[in-house]
Order: sequence, then structure tokens, then C-alpha cells
Amino acid sequence: MLQIENKSLFINQMFTRIAKKYDFLNNIMTFNLHQIWKKQAIESASVNIPYLKHAKVLDLCTGTGDMAQMWAKKPQVSKVMAIDSCPPMLEEAEKRQRKIKEPWATKITFMPGDALELPFPDDNFDAISVGFGLRNVADLSRAIQEIFRVLKPGGFIVSLDLGHPEQPFIQNIYKNIFLNFIPLLGSIFAGDKLAYRYLVDSLETWPKQKELSQMFWDQGFTRSYFKDLMFGTIALVVAQK
Ligand SMILES: C[S@@+](CC[C@H](N)C(=O)[O-])C[C@H]1O[C@@H](n2cnc3c(N)ncnc32)[C@H](O)[C@@H]1O
Repeated sequence: MLQIENKSLFINQMFTRIAKKYDFLNNIMTFNLHQIWKKQAIESASVNIPYLKHAKVLDLCTGTGDMAQMWAKKPQVSKVMAIDSCPPMLEEAEKRQRKIKEPWATKITFMPGDALELPFPDDNFDAISVGFGLRNVADLSRAIQEIFRVLKPGGFIVSLDLGHPEQPFIQNIYKNIFLNFIPLLGSIFAGDKLAYRYLVDSLETWPKQKELSQMFWDQGFTRSYFKDLMFGTIALVVAQK
């Protein structure tokens, strides 16, 4: 397994290389379904938002800012902090934000930051989202600890990420598609087979959705559950502090 510093550097360099092609590749690899999953994730973490007037939320590992934008469109949300450790991904996010002329876009602040050392005080956010991010952090337990620290009591966190399907038939299809198709697409469209090979390999050490949910319980969250999407190939883990 890669050491913490090595993994962080490797991940940073990888997203630096693919930043400009990230959105395009995401769209073709998921047939644009990632937008639907992200909306479902945001709704799952919005349980207490309708009862708040000026909710402040955090989108962790924001990348090009899809989920930050979804949060910002909610009338009850007044501030969206969106952080990522890779400056070129943030540049893409800000480029997209500048093109939006709607007032909600001004609610978002993009800033560099590390999920392992969040630059925020304790009990600060009403909700937190992280899309396809926790799988990439070098120390998952520490990231969950940091999420717990900056979330307000009663607040919700949602992690949207790859899952581990239970059914052998789905497992077979998933592994074959994943192992062959994704690195091939990465090589054709991003000229970066290694980055998309990593996407496949990262599944080996990534916990099953049930185990990830357990990690939130272990950290002290008052409830935690998972929800399978796409037959468990994608999963949401939702927890409340
Ligand atoms: C697969 S992308 C997901 C982007 C976006 N959330 C989405 O769903 O499209 C993962 C992002 O996590 C960021 N990342 C990885 N490790 C991080 C860390 N320790 N702290 C903050 N961001 C991190 C990467 O730079 C990258 O932009």
C-alpha cells in the first residue's frame, strides 16, 4: 500500500494531469448518470436543510464543483465552501463558476484544502458532501475524524463513491467492464491509461459500503446507513452527527 505522503502526491499529480478532461471523461464513462447520483447524494444529506434559514455546507474533494453547484441552488443554503487539494481541479471549477450568471453561483467559495486537515473550526457546517473523494484520501479514518469535527451536531454527511456489488453476476460484469473498459477509455480520451487504471485498482483497498458505514458509527456518529445505486456498483453512505 502507498504511504500517506506518497499516495497524496500520486493522487495530486494524477488529478493535475486529467483536470481539463475530467468532466468530459466523467460524462462519457457514466453516460452522464453521475449527475443523477450526485443529486441523490445531495438530497440524502439535506434532511435538516429545509428547516434552516442560512445553512452553511461543505463540499469536500469538490473537483470541478458539480456538487457545490447543486448545494448552491438550494434556497436555504447561504454559503457553500468547496475545497480540494488539487489547484488545477479548482481552476476548472472556478472557470465553470464564472460562466454562470445566476445569483446562486456567488454562494460558492472554492479554496485549496486537505481533507486530512480541514481549515475550519469545530461544529461549523450544517451538512457535508463528498463525491468520489474519500476513496482517494491517504488516510480514510483521519478524513472521517475531520468530517466529524467540523460538522455541527445533528448535521448530515454523505459520501458518494464506487461500491462493491453483492450479486456474483453483477460483480462479474462490473469487474470485467471496470478492468478493461475504463482504462481503455482513459487512454483513448484522456491519453492517461495510468490514471484510469488507478480508478480500478483503488477498489481493492476501498471498503465495502457496509464497512464504510460502520466507520462512521465507530467515529461517534449517531446514525449511519448506506444505500446502493446501480446494483451496488455505486453507493451512498449517509451519517448524522
Ligand atoms: C474523483 S475526483 C471527484 C471530484 C468531484 N467531487 C466529483 O464528484 O466529480 C476526487 C477529487 O478529490 C480530490 N482530493 C484527493 N485527495 C484529497 C485530499 N486529501 N483533500 C482534498 N481533496 C482531495 C482530488 O484532487 C480530486 O479533485
